[in-house]
Amino acid sequence: MATDRVTHRAPATPETIAAAAECLRLGGLVAMPTETVYGLAADATSDKAVAEIYVAKGRPAFNPLIAHVLGVEDARDHARLDDAAERLARAFWPGPLTLVAPVAPACRVCLLARAGLDTLALRAPDHPVARALIEAAGRPLAAPSANRSGHVSATTADHVLADLSGRIDWVLDAGPSPHGVESTIVACLEAGPTLLRPGAVTREAIEAALGRPLAQAASSGAPQAPGQFASHYAPRARLRLEAHAVAPHEAALDFGGALARAAAFARLDLSPSGDLVEAAANLFACIRALDEMGAASIAVAPIPGNGLGEAINDRLRRAAGYVG
Ligand code: TXA
Ligand code: MG
Repeated sequence: MATDRVTHRAPATPETIAAAAECLRLGGLVAMPTETVYGLAADATSDKAVAEIYVAKGRPAFNPLIAHVLGVEDARDHARLDDAAERLARAFWPGPLTLVAPVAPACRVCLLARAGLDTLALRAPDHPVARALIEAAGRPLAAPSANRSGHVSATTADHVLADLSGRIDWVLDAGPSPHGVESTIVACLEAGPTLLRPGAVTREAIEAALGRPLAQAASSGAPQAPGQFASHYAPRARLRLEAHAVAPHEAALDFGGALARAAAFARLDLSPSGDLVEAAANLFACIRALDEMGAASIAVAPIPGNGLGEAINDRLRRAAGYVG
């Protein structure tokens, strides 16, 4: 796995921001200061770049990520903002509020960043370095908190390096994060504005801006698994995992060419060379493509459980209906 990087730590200056933005355009990973916590940024339009976030964090599952944009105009390119979302964006952006909205037809945020969902989390951060980086990169940046999976969020460049040194390309140091807690997340979907995660913007402030109370997400305010509150992408086709053979009426979701000789009516290989980063990048697009071909059943080749394989297998089990 690509965890042998040279991590450049530098004070954020116009020069280092430009260099880090170029690195992002080439698919690299940059820890950027935001007003909430440090984020681990990658090009949100590239499945391959986003897969590297999961490698660096050691995440066992693909959670949907927040796409960081400059403001409401950019957000409208990627998601359909309803009246409540527009109102909240006007009141709190740039700032520590994340809005979850249905993806727009022209959305360029990749499927892996969205964990295959048809909704998208968007935030316009208020930190000058984050803003300069998004602008210089010229695209939305996917960025979870810059910590190893299971650790607390990083609020200084030292915290970032303690977790991610040698696993990412850059840390832009701008001192401690002003808020130190993550953004508040509000879903603006059919059910009406709903608090998904409490954070740096208070419920009271949001309700005052909306002029009505927020609905509460199903289970408390803790960060939740995607399937709990969003219409999680589930294929129409039945997924048959750990398949070593394929029936002629089945489609094959292959890995490393294991099912290449099977008589499947369609076959897509997540990674012909058996590369788990490539497989993660292709996962959601391949499932959708086979589903759209009308397969009633998709036979999935065995995927190794190491590295990103753990997250890939987690998603496959969910798509197969084994996990809630
Ligand atoms: O302050 C923050 O929000 C920081 C900075 C870096 O911006 N980012 C952050 O990202 O906390 P992360 O990945 O640690 O948390 C993002 C949360 C996750 O709980 C995820 O499930 C939720 O956002 N999320 C993302 N997309 C979603 C979607 N489409 N529907 C529901 N929840 C979503
Ligand atoms: Mg986090």
